[in-house]
Amino acid sequence: MDQSQILDILKTIQYPGFSRDIVSFGMIENIRIEEKSLTLTLKLSTQQEGKKKEVVALVKEKLESTGEFDSIAIEHVEGAPSGPQPAGQIPEALPGVKHILAVASGKGGVGKSTIATNLACALKNQGHSVGLLDLDIYGPSLPIILGIADQPKTTAERKLIPIDFHGMKVMSFGFISGNETPTIWRGPLVARMTEQFFRDVEWGTLDYLVLDLPPGTGDVQLTLTQKLKISGAVIITTPQDIALSDVRKGADMFKKVQTPVLGVIENMSGLQIKGNIEGDSSSVTIEGHPIDVDESGNFSFKINLFKTGGGKQESDRLEVPLLAEIPLVQELMETTDQGKPITLSDPESDLSRIFADVAQTVDKQLQG
Ligand SMILES: Nc1ncnc2c1ncn2[C@@H]1O[C@H](COP(=O)(O)OP(=O)(O)OP(=O)(O)O)[C@@H](O)[C@H]1O
Ligand SMILES: [Mg+2]
Repeated sequence: MDQSQILDILKTIQYPGFSRDIVSFGMIENIRIEEKSLTLTLKLSTQQEGKKKEVVALVKEKLESTGEFDSIAIEHVEGAPSGPQPAGQIPEALPGVKHILAVASGKGGVGKSTIATNLACALKNQGHSVGLLDLDIYGPSLPIILGIADQPKTTAERKLIPIDFHGMKVMSFGFISGNETPTIWRGPLVARMTEQFFRDVEWGTLDYLVLDLPPGTGDVQLTLTQKLKISGAVIITTPQDIALSDVRKGADMFKKVQTPVLGVIENMSGLQIKGNIEGDSSSVTIEGHPIDVDESGNFSFKINLFKTGGGKQESDRLEVPLLAEIPLVQELMETTDQGKPITLSDPESDLSRIFADVAQTVDKQLQG
C-alpha cells in the first residue's frame, strides 16, 4: 500500500459531528510507511480530548481492517488543520447577500467587534447596503457596543428580522438570549446553534454582511468555513501578539480552507496622544522624544507601548496586505462602546479615514 491508497481510505472517515472527512479538513499531517509498519501523524485543532480520541480510534480501526500492516502508530499534533479544500464540497452562498466578510482573530480582546462595527459603518458610508452579525454566542458584544436592547421581531416564516442601526441591519445572539452566556454548551452544539442562527435571519438583499467572529479556531469557525461561502476574511492582530501560535492559527485556518484572507489589521498599534500647548512650544518632549507642534500649538504623538511590527510580520507571512495600523485611541473606544461609532458621527476624522481606506481596499479586492 502506498500513501495515496492510505489517503483514499482516510477520506472515508468523517470528522465527528461534520459531514466532511478528515483528509479534506487537512488533518493528515504525515504518512510514513516502512515495509509493514505505518506511522500516521494527525493534526487536530479541537480542544476536546474526547474528540481527538474518537478520531484516533476511527483511524486506527479503519487502517487495521486493511490487514496490510503489522504495526500501526498514530501520533497527533496540535494545530489548525492544513491541506486542500475538498473538491465537490462547495460552501453555500447566502441568497441575496453579495459578499460575506469575516472579521477574525485567533485571540480574544484584540478589537474584532470594534473593527467589525466601524468597518461595516465605513462600507455603509461608501453607499453599500450592509449587515453586521455578531456570531459570538458565548460573549456577544453588539448589544453592548451598539446599545441595543430591542428584541428582534420575526417574519411569518419565523425568521428573525435584523434590527436597524443607522441604516445597517444588525443581529446578535445577545438580542435573543438577553446576553446570558450559555457557557455549558459544548463546541459542536455551539457550532450548530451558530449555523442555525445564521440561517434564521432574514437579511434581504445586502452588498456586505460583516461577521464579527468569536475568537479562535474551534468548531464554530470550522463549521462556518465549511458551510458558508465567505468571500474574504480580515485578520485582526495586535503588535505584540505575533509570536502567539493562537494568532497564527486564526489566519492559517482561513487560508487553508481556501477562504481568501484579504489582509491583516494591526490594532492597538501604539498609543496616540493629541494635545495642545500654549506658549513656547519650541522644545517640547514626551518621554524624551521631541514633538512637532504646529503654529496653533497642536501636536500628535504616538507611543509604542508594545513591540511593533506584528501586523507587518503577519501580513508578510500570509502574503497579504497590511490593511491598516490602528492606534490605541480613547475616542475609538468611547465612541464605539457608547453605540456611536466615530465612522458615523465623524466620518472625516483621521480614524474614520483609516476605516474608509480599509473598506475601499476590501471592496476593490472583492469586486476585482
Ligand atoms: N484601537 C483601539 N483603541 C482604543 N480602544 C480599543 C481599540 N480597539 C479596541 N478597543 C477597546 O478594547 C476593548 C476590546 O475590544 P473588542 O471588544 O472590539 O475586542 P474583541 O476582539 O471583539 O473581543 P472579544 O474577543 O472579547 O470579542 C473594547 O473596550 C474596545 O473599545
Ligand atoms: Mg468581540
